[in-house]
Amino acid sequence: MEKIIWDDSFSVGVEVLDQQHRQIVEVINRLLEEPQEGFDADQIARILDDLTKFVHLHFRMEEGLLAQHGYPDLQVQQAEHREFRVELASLCMGSMKNHTVVPINALLYLKEWWVDHILVKDMQYRPFLSSRPGLLPS
Ligand SMILES: [Fe+2]
Repeated sequence: MEKIIWDDSFSVGVEVLDQQHRQIVEVINRLLEEPQEGFDADQIARILDDLTKFVHLHFRMEEGLLAQHGYPDLQVQQAEHREFRVELASLCMGSMKNHTVVPINALLYLKEWWVDHILVKDMQYRPFLSSRPGLLPS
């Protein structure tokens, strides 16, 4: 499946959040660029492990910054993040049963969720957060 190509339109205007988003996109791209010969047994588990780690770290940071600066739609972000955490957990459970293939619908979900989340949902806080003092702009 074609990988996600990062460009400036993905920037939410805050360096640390852009870096974390890039890191998450890179991990998802590792899954999307499945090698011709397929994954070996541990690869998928390792990638999903990385994804889980980076996603949890990122959601905590993003929600923390939004809360700290009094973002009015924090609950919308939290609800979205909660939905993704649940899906990711069930994907991880599924990969334990059959760990050499990631189902195409799961790949599509990961790709579409993140592209939509960054470009639509996260972009809504860009004007709010990028104008706050003390945050390094990207
Ligand atoms: Fe978010």
